[in-house]
Amino acid sequence: MTPSAPGSRFASKLGLTDRVLAGPRSRRLLATVEAGLERVDETLRDELRVSDQLADTTSRYLYEAGGKRVRPMLTILTAQLGVGTTDEVIEGATALEMTHLGSLYHDDVMDAADKRRGVPSAHAVWGNNIAILTGDLLFSRASQIMARHGERAIRLQADTFERLVLGQMHETVGPQAGDDPVEFYLQVLSDKTGSLIAAAAQSGVVFSNGPAEFEEPMFVFGEKAGVAFQLLDDVIDLSADPDETGKVPGTDLRAGVPTMPYLLLGTREDEASVALRERIDEGVARIADGADPALLDEPLAALREHEATGATRDLAEKWSRDAIDALAPIPDGPVREALTRFAQAVADRSS
Ligand code: IPE
Ligand code: IPE
Ligand code: MG
Ligand code: MG
Repeated sequence: MTPSAPGSRFASKLGLTDRVLAGPRSRRLLATVEAGLERVDETLRDELRVSDQLADTTSRYLYEAGGKRVRPMLTILTAQLGVGTTDEVIEGATALEMTHLGSLYHDDVMDAADKRRGVPSAHAVWGNNIAILTGDLLFSRASQIMARHGERAIRLQADTFERLVLGQMHETVGPQAGDDPVEFYLQVLSDKTGSLIAAAAQSGVVFSNGPAEFEEPMFVFGEKAGVAFQLLDDVIDLSADPDETGKVPGTDLRAGVPTMPYLLLGTREDEASVALRERIDEGVARIADGADPALLDEPLAALREHEATGATRDLAEKWSRDAIDALAPIPDGPVREALTRFAQAVADRSS
């Protein structure tokens, strides 16, 4: 039997929308974005009902479990720089969200993550093979949607997906001799997460026939906001509150996936920092040998309180400020204001 998803589907999404579109000046834009997100959700729902029953069930599983819809929100926002929320904008946003969804199925296999969006991850329910194949199915469906909109759309999808995969691959193999671990990891974040958020921001302009000169700034904005978003994801990985995050705390670190707080801890040379890093490394090695992952509870709590985690937050804020700087060519108005708030919100969030 398929576990049922919680009814919290729109809660986190609305939280973000409310923050980004706060205030009387944004009221009309808020209604536009909410209506657009509703259409993206309807399209996603329809597009996830095209195969046999098993494939439909597994591919709808994480979609139904929730998600913040950060990427479609950005596409709909930047589409207001052009003629607005056209059918093409909705389909482009749907295809990119579907790409994101597929990447979550694969990522949870790679990170051995037990939970996603508050429910058991797909591989925990159906096993690795079905989780991987479901991700593949979602990628192919996303390409089918993009193909309806011509070569430009397909290229946008393919280029984005290539970067996302390379980011995941480089994270997996880690820095090579001569690479600076922090710089290397920032490039990983740009590729695995920034690429898709950049594409979401750019595609709103592209699919709404917006001014061509806004495409590049929107891409740069999305990429930088995406890095800020992922840096906060690394902080959230250390969160003690699984109800809020929908994930198991410390999933990445327990599986030996380095995150920015851990990497910055590695650059600290004081005795306490070195000792904490050793305890984490030793715990990761023991978990890899089959020990109870709970043995890292205490070291991870110490890392959460460590200055390296505060420094990760500071770094997210810096990337968020850089994203906002990229908005300079965009005319002043509610859209630019919302994008500014978007960049601030992704660097200051708890889920
Ligand atoms: C999770 O993305 C994967 C990352 C790139 C950090 P989100 O935090 O946007 O996931 P959902 O869609 O809200 O579940
Ligand atoms: C996910 O990165 C990136 C992609 C899915 C491409 P993470 O592994 O850090 O994200 P979470 O924490 O599992 O959502
Ligand atoms: Mg993960
Ligand atoms: Mg991962």
